[in-house]
Amino acid sequence: MVSVIFPAAGEGRRMNAGKNKVFVELLGKPILVRTLLRFSECAAVDDFVVVVGEEDVDKVAAVLEKTPGLKPFRVVAGGSERQYSVKNGLAALHPDTELVLVHDAARPLVPVKTIEAVVAETWRSGAAIAAVHAKNTIKVVRDDGVVESTPDRANLWEVQTPQGFRRDILEAAYRRAEADGFLGTDDAGLVERMGFPVRVVEGSYRNLKVTTPEDLWVVETFMERDVVGKVKAKMESAGAGIEEAIDDLDAFADKLAAAVSEKLKAYRSRGGKK
Ligand code: CTP
Ligand code: MG
Repeated sequence: MVSVIFPAAGEGRRMNAGKNKVFVELLGKPILVRTLLRFSECAAVDDFVVVVGEEDVDKVAAVLEKTPGLKPFRVVAGGSERQYSVKNGLAALHPDTELVLVHDAARPLVPVKTIEAVVAETWRSGAAIAAVHAKNTIKVVRDDGVVESTPDRANLWEVQTPQGFRRDILEAAYRRAEADGFLGTDDAGLVERMGFPVRVVEGSYRNLKVTTPEDLWVVETFMERDVVGKVKAKMESAGAGIEEAIDDLDAFADKLAAAVSEKLKAYRSRGGKK
């Protein structure tokens, strides 16, 4: 069984929306719901653990209960750091879970293909993360503002989520991090420091993490384009049917008009009597 933990217990400070950014709506649905619906489209995963702030657990559970089309889910309380939120998610996994994916609730545009690729590589090798080639040159800069070095861009990847792990590996990595008082910036980091190889799966530049208000505009634009694309595809696939229906309607209208004009003629020939 493959389970997905969604850390969604942040404050969204950089979004400055006056609430947790995952509750901000995108085309009428909260970002969190959009993300869960996207994963619900993917046959390679089975169930969800959604991690939100303690005060939001009941509210979120109620909203998700009323959302059609979601995979089975549990809602649990998170912690003050993302790592603590994921830890609470791990503690709430189904007993039969073998693989765990961790995915930022704030990445609603993740393609189903990326999820599938991460799951497949995790089944194969035990640890796999979605990432994209760095587009920009990245420099290592000292605290005093002077450049120290320019790493070769060919080896630089921007890491995203989902990140997938065999459950035993991720649990061991979390135990070790806790014992060492280590706080990482992603889940793979905890696994890497145990010496376990983590494989990179090519992700998508669209898989943005909604972080600041500009990201919302970009993500919304992508979504609008997707909606237009879907409607067009539906119209095209229905096209032949629609033309046939219009022909049928035309033929029916001709018949109706002929019948009416026959009746009108007969009526007139009777001198306007019924
Ligand atoms: N997250 C979490 N628990 C925390 C902090 C973050 O579950 N204590 C989640 C966020 O809700 C988000 C994901 O981890 O879905 C990635 O974190 P980030 O983008 O940094 O979100 P926030 O921490 O909410 O935003 P900010 O850093 O701007 O406050
Ligand atoms: Mg944060």
